[in-house]
Amino acid sequence: MNVAERVSTLQPTAVNRVLLEARQLQAEGRTLISLMRGQPDTPTPTHIVEAAERALRDGHTGYPDNQGEPILRQAIAEKLRRDNGLTYDASREILVTDGATSGIFTALAALIQPGDDVLLPDPIYDAYASPIAIWGGQPRPIRSAIHAGRFAIDRAALEAAYTPRSRVLLLNTPWNPTGTVWTHAELTACLDFAAARDLRVISDEIYESLIYDGRRHVSPAALSPDARARTVLVNSLSKTYGMTGWRVGYCAGPVEIIQAMLLVLQQFSRGPATLVQHAAVSALRGDQASVRTTTAEYQARRDHVVQALTGLPGVVPLVPEGGLFVMLDVRGLGRRSDDVRRFLLHDAGVVLIHGSAYGAAGEGALRVSFAAGGVTLERGLERLRDGLLKLASAASPNP
Ligand SMILES: Cc1ncc(COP(=O)(O)O)c(C=O)c1O
Repeated sequence: MNVAERVSTLQPTAVNRVLLEARQLQAEGRTLISLMRGQPDTPTPTHIVEAAERALRDGHTGYPDNQGEPILRQAIAEKLRRDNGLTYDASREILVTDGATSGIFTALAALIQPGDDVLLPDPIYDAYASPIAIWGGQPRPIRSAIHAGRFAIDRAALEAAYTPRSRVLLLNTPWNPTGTVWTHAELTACLDFAAARDLRVISDEIYESLIYDGRRHVSPAALSPDARARTVLVNSLSKTYGMTGWRVGYCAGPVEIIQAMLLVLQQFSRGPATLVQHAAVSALRGDQASVRTTTAEYQARRDHVVQALTGLPGVVPLVPEGGLFVMLDVRGLGRRSDDVRRFLLHDAGVVLIHGSAYGAAGEGALRVSFAAGGVTLERGLERLRDGLLKLASAASPNP
C-alpha cells in the first residue's frame, strides 16, 4: 500500500470526470464544444491586474500574514458591512483563504469530528463531498423539489435529513447547480432549524454578485445575532472579479472558529500569495462598475440560453435566479440524465454535466453553463438543440 487509505474516500469532481471522457474523444479527432465549466470568461479588470504589478514592484514578495494581510482583512470587513450589512472584527474574525475551496476545507476541519454528519441540499456542487470525507464526515442530502420552476427545500426535507450525528448545515446561495437564490424566508427557515438542532452553518456565497432580475443576495449570517454566531461565511473573488486563477477568498465568523481555522490553514498553506492579496484589496475597494457590467452580461446570456432552449419537445429550461447555469429539465425525454449527457457528448459533440452528478434530486436535469459566451455559446446551443431534437424524436411514439 503506497497511498493512505483516506484517499480512497475522495472523488474527482464531475467536471473532471466528464473532462476525461471529452479528452478521449478529442484525442480521437472529435471537435467538442463545452457548456460545462463554471469559469467566467470575463477577464480580470485592468485596475486589479495593475495593482498586482504594483504590489510586485513594491516588494510584496515575502510570506503573507498567515491570517491574511491586515489591509486585505480590513477591505473584506468593509465589503461585508457595505454589501451584506455584517460587522466583523478584521483583526480576529476574518481569514483570507486560497479561494472558497480552501475556506470550505478549513471550515469543515474546524467544525466536524470523525463520524459527524453534514447536511447539505441535494443537488449541490459536488466538490463539497470530498473535503467532508477527508475530515471523517458523512454528507447527508436534504432532498429538494422543483416548485414553480425552481429548486427549493422545505422544513420537512430538513427534518427528514437530520440525524443525531448532524453537526453542520452547508448552504450555497446562489445555489450551484440549481440557480436558486434563497429568499429571506427560506434562509430564516434553515437558520431556525439550525438553531433548533444546534447546528453550525457554512454558507458558501461565491456567486453572490451573479444575481438577476433585481433580486438581492441575503447572507444567512445577517439574519439575526444567533445566525451570525453559528455561521461561517465563505466567499471568494473568483467569480465576482473574473479571478478564478488568482486563488483568493475569505471566511468570516465567530472568533473562536476563525482562529481554529487559522491553525488548520497554517498547516497546508500560508494563505494566497502576498501580491495577490494586495491586488484583492484593489478589487474590493476599487470601482465596482465591472461587477455590474459582468452581471448584466450574464443576465443577457441567461436570457439567451433560456430562449434558445424553450419550446423543444420533452425539455423545459428552469430560469436561474442567479449563478452561471441553466438547469434543463429533460424528464420528458424518458432517459436518465447521464444517458442524455452521453448522447449529447458523443453524438452532438457538446459537453454538459448531468444533474445526477450533483445528487439524486438532480436526476432528470442537465446543467448548461453560460460561463463561456460568444461563439462558444452560440455553437454549443446549436449542437445542444440539434441533439435534443434527435432524442425527442427517438422518444416520440409517432416519429
Ligand atoms: C459553489 C462553489 N463553491 C466554491 C467554488 C470554488 O471556488 P474558488 O475558485 O473560490 O475556490 C465553486 C467553483 O465553481 C463553486 O461553484
